[in-house]
Amino acid sequence: MLASASATTHADDAHALIGEAPPSPAGPLAADDLRPIALPPAIPLPRALQTLRFSVRQIEFVFRYRRLLGETFRFRGVVDDEFVVLTSHPDHVKSLFTAKPDDAPSLTGESPLRPIVGPNSVLTAIGPRHMRQRKLLLPPFHGEAVQRYAEMIAAVADREIDSWPVGKPIRLAPSTQAITLDVIMAGIFGVEGLPEKGTPERGLRDAIRWAVGLSVRPEAQLFELLNIRREEPAGPLKRLLDHVDRFVYALIDQRREAGDAAQRADILSLLLEATDEDGTPLTDRELRDELLTLVLAGHETTANSLAWAFERLVRTPAAYDRLRDISRSGDAAFADEDGWIEATIHETMRSRPVIPMIGRRVTRPWELGEYRVPAGTSVAMSILLLHHREDVYPDPFAFRPERFLGVRPGTYTWIPFGGGIRRCLGAALAMAEQRVVLRAIARRTDLVAVDAAPEHARHRNVTMIPQEGARVIVQAKRPSG
Ligand code: HEM
Repeated sequence: MLASASATTHADDAHALIGEAPPSPAGPLAADDLRPIALPPAIPLPRALQTLRFSVRQIEFVFRYRRLLGETFRFRGVVDDEFVVLTSHPDHVKSLFTAKPDDAPSLTGESPLRPIVGPNSVLTAIGPRHMRQRKLLLPPFHGEAVQRYAEMIAAVADREIDSWPVGKPIRLAPSTQAITLDVIMAGIFGVEGLPEKGTPERGLRDAIRWAVGLSVRPEAQLFELLNIRREEPAGPLKRLLDHVDRFVYALIDQRREAGDAAQRADILSLLLEATDEDGTPLTDRELRDELLTLVLAGHETTANSLAWAFERLVRTPAAYDRLRDISRSGDAAFADEDGWIEATIHETMRSRPVIPMIGRRVTRPWELGEYRVPAGTSVAMSILLLHHREDVYPDPFAFRPERFLGVRPGTYTWIPFGGGIRRCLGAALAMAEQRVVLRAIARRTDLVAVDAAPEHARHRNVTMIPQEGARVIVQAKRPSG
């Protein structure tokens, strides 16, 4: 008995906590497949009510209709009468991630992000333009390239933790946002540490913090709805972006004038040097769209994932204690020998995926299990529902990092970074940041929840964030170093 227990590995433990979904056929229909279209069940509510429920209570909405209608169902689009099919089966996800780019282009170009980051960025473009931008940007976001940021990330995290008061409630999300914003600004513009007052870099940093702060206000959701499907922003969103853009364009001008892009290693310099096949460089507008995409995609997501990690940990004492023990043991800079830090990040991103849904538009009739949808259908993959499948993750609402000990998360069952040719470009950076910051906070502080009840999730643009920004009290704090 004892012998067999000691022979049990982490992987065996995790296998009991990670299962498999039954197979479900999925993919484009062959040209000679004459089976008729068979649509999944529709939500039986008027469109206006669906839109309202989806916008205000997306999480309850998807869980409710998953329960009532099954793993594949359809609902009405937010703007027009088109319907969206939502699925949460790993085989359906696989068929979309591995599809030829023209068969299932991304829906990000039609998302609420388009009027903000514009139509020209790697996030919103589709087809050859997307592939070109992606190829250009991949090297600086590669795993090895981001390793060199580890020390800088640790220094930024230490500076932020130094500012936390002991014994008073604080919200972690604004703090983690300050950390991730500094990190992404360093990567993109090559500014190390806090940019000096009066510089366009500092102006941009402050403008972004201000804009993100405003975006959590309740009226922001209305402005988002007003801007859906627009090419250019309108109303208050436009004024807000004009303010941010002033600094982005000032930075581009300053760099063009300096003419030192070839000697610099930052991403703006890389973009300034890049040309089309015919030798044409990016226009200022294209540069602006790309830079804003990277700054926005690159910091809010990671910051909220970190906030969710501690929102979960302070309510899961055993997992939190183990994380603190590991973070405080030894001084091997960022070692995580038994993989607990990594497993904690994987479990956080499973149970609280900051982007809960992604989409593709199929351009050919598509099989999704027992259903067949016509060409032109928008298919949304619910990351949240997939991550809470009882057959894949037994006891899915429990926070259990041990699920991932010694186990690589599945390509089609753990998809917080999406997948295929649209997989998050910043995934390696986001993982590096989470490793370093999670460890720094766990090593230096003892946090407790302000309220015992878990924080609800709320939606901001395409993200799912903790309602109260992960409110905690710092009970004790250790010096850095
Ligand atoms: C925890 C943090 C993050 C999460 C959860 C996250 C999640 C995602 C998701 C779900 C997608 C869409 C993938 C798809 O449709 O298949 C995406 C795309 C993208 N992300 Fe992230 N992301 C994070 C951090 C970052 C960072 C640090 C950057 C760095 C700048 C970044 C840049 C991008 C870009 C440029 C794309 C578009 C890729 C493309 O369409 O080719 N993200 N991300």
